[in-house]
Amino acid sequence: MYNLLKGKKGIIFGALDENSIAWKTAERVHKEGGEFVLTNAPIAMRMGTINELAQKTGSQIIPADATSIEDLEQLITKSMDILGGKIDFVLHSIGMSINVRKGRHYTDQKYEWTQKGTDVSAMSFHKVMSVLYKKEAMNPWGSIVALSYMAAQRVFPDYNDMADNKAYLESVARSFGYFFGRDFKVRVNTISQSPTPTTAGTGVKGFEGFFAYADKMSPLGNATAQECADYTVSLFSDLTKKVTLQNLFHDGGFSNMGVSNAIMDSFMGEVS
Ligand SMILES: NC(=O)c1ccc[n+]([C@@H]2O[C@H](COP(=O)([O-])OP(=O)(O)OC[C@H]3O[C@@H](n4cnc5c(N)ncnc54)[C@H](O)[C@@H]3O)[C@@H](O)[C@H]2O)c1
Repeated sequence: MYNLLKGKKGIIFGALDENSIAWKTAERVHKEGGEFVLTNAPIAMRMGTINELAQKTGSQIIPADATSIEDLEQLITKSMDILGGKIDFVLHSIGMSINVRKGRHYTDQKYEWTQKGTDVSAMSFHKVMSVLYKKEAMNPWGSIVALSYMAAQRVFPDYNDMADNKAYLESVARSFGYFFGRDFKVRVNTISQSPTPTTAGTGVKGFEGFFAYADKMSPLGNATAQECADYTVSLFSDLTKKVTLQNLFHDGGFSNMGVSNAIMDSFMGEVS
């Protein structure tokens, strides 16, 4: 490894188990010399295996519900104590839709669930940044990254209300990113990642088809969670200091494809 993050300190949200994008990112950040606090919702502490990751990376865990300002305030204050100063990088790797989980169709949502999903998946990003901003917790040339999906721009019918949450998330990255850049020289970006087999990913109806289609459409194939971790490390490093307010596609080329030969081949014989 290259010590790309030596001396840098951060907070990583969303490592549930070894498949999580945040888990792979934490491992990769650790290898690059970065130090961090791990956090997840209190319920995820019971379900997941985050302790194992904390041991492996020499990190402390602070439970926090990312929808609670009080939890976030405590998390950020305690993290600065533990890490001995301000923060250089933050990963927001959080997503959840109750409509998706309970199989409720997009045209017939239960709006209490929609609101909860929006709060967890998108507004939480605003809340995290708001607490960081008010506490002046970020070092100059710090980097904040959240994870998104291309359903923010294009229709994927079974992605349900998560599509709207991702559009909101990406907008928050731009809007808050302006103030973070202007006032603290901190950059804010979203990474729009390929379908990835994680707990959140495989919870989407028809995930296997989704995954295989994207893989066949992309000249480089789907990007894995490990590759997403690598890309995220580059955004946390000083090699990308002037990249901000961007939604960065990390998808093997999928987002600029019309159709691939592999997909065309699967329709051969169907056209008369
Ligand atoms: N897996 C995919 O196909 C895919 C594709 C593009 C983008 N993403 C995005 O990547 C991010 C990470 O998801 P993942 O695929 O690694 O799945 P994951 O299920 O491993 O991670 C989702 C995390 O969100 C956390 N979370 C849920 N509610 C929370 C709350 N109230 N407070 C704090 N944390 C909470 C969960 O505990 C979990 O750790 C999400 O934003 C997801 O939408 C995933």
